[in-house]
Amino acid sequence: MEIKTKIVVVDESEMDEAAEKAIAEAGAILKDGGLVAFPTETVYGLGGDALNPQSSGKIYAAKGRPSDNPLIVHITNMKALEKIVKEIPETGKKLADAFWPGPLTMIFQKSDIVPEETTGGLETVAVRMPSHRIARALIDAAGGYVAAPSANISGKPSPTLAKYVAEDMMGRIEMILDGGSIGIGLESTIVDLTDGEPTILRPGYITEEMLTQVLGSVAVDRTILDGNSRQAPKAPGMKYRHYAPKGDLTIIDGAPEAVRTQINRLAQQQKEKGEKVGIIGTKENIRYYKADSIKSVGSREDEESIAKTLYQFLREFDDEEVTVIYSEGFSTAGIGQAIMNRLLKAAGHKIIYLDE
Ligand code: TXA
Ligand code: MG
Repeated sequence: MEIKTKIVVVDESEMDEAAEKAIAEAGAILKDGGLVAFPTETVYGLGGDALNPQSSGKIYAAKGRPSDNPLIVHITNMKALEKIVKEIPETGKKLADAFWPGPLTMIFQKSDIVPEETTGGLETVAVRMPSHRIARALIDAAGGYVAAPSANISGKPSPTLAKYVAEDMMGRIEMILDGGSIGIGLESTIVDLTDGEPTILRPGYITEEMLTQVLGSVAVDRTILDGNSRQAPKAPGMKYRHYAPKGDLTIIDGAPEAVRTQINRLAQQQKEKGEKVGIIGTKENIRYYKADSIKSVGSREDEESIAKTLYQFLREFDDEEVTVIYSEGFSTAGIGQAIMNRLLKAAGHKIIYLDE
């Protein structure tokens, strides 16, 4: 069924009367069981009332997402957390103190008020307290609990601009709050607190190093960077091919000069076969490349700029109908762990390592 989608521009830095009115309207839509896409500090979310099983059902339908893939519940305060979880372990309190509000999601045992539709049938619930002002105002206006996956059609890169939300969600949801371009550009870090040692299920802006500083130690799900692992990832969503552009993406990793040469050689071969070739490279290398579409993700030293632009570039390649894509590989320290995790998934783990 086609729904009329209303788009309203709201500016986080200038929450005027018009913005307040739009957020009140969006909150009412959510309370009423409808869906609203909204900006967060990580990526755009597709929100529904987390305590309403029908709303969660609509989210799965709008995304075309398998319903065994659980949703993250977004809240704005610790009182709300107490209501939706069985208990808050000491580790959870420490992490909340250090990183909430912000781009961290924690998994807890769920309380009875959280419907199974929201948790994909699991007895656990993923919870995040975002810092984005518009997200926070919307959650409060909606009654305090907003289930929100990234606002993309299942399998595509998460939207970091409202125009990509509109591309995927027009006619499927009631409203889009357009808060402009997103700050971080990659989804939140997910840490599981329900199964022994706290474990990173999805890397993000809150890095392994930052978590270790607070907790002393943290485990990492082996499947994050290892495509050959036969173990199933613990976050159900991480098992799907994800963040994928339409073009066929391969990562080339190794010493910069060798990578440059190999990417240009492969690009030339593909061009001769009639393919339209795109390249993702760092500022240090970009002037050497030859291809139909070349995207500079910024400096190798500035991984935050790589995180911020990666999904946008994958979406632009789609718009340009690029059929073959090569990307440089990146360091896996710090936020690089999250960048390489997303890039590997987008590439279906196709990576060529060049020996030094
Ligand atoms: O930054 C973010 O986290 C964004 C914004 C909108 O907040 N949201 C987001 O949601 O990325 P989504 O649905 O695209 O990704 C949620 C991930 C999936 O991989 C899902 O399987 C996992 O979290 N997840 C959710 N609940 C879980 C649970 N109870 N146990 C294990 N994994 C869970
Ligand atoms: Mg997603």
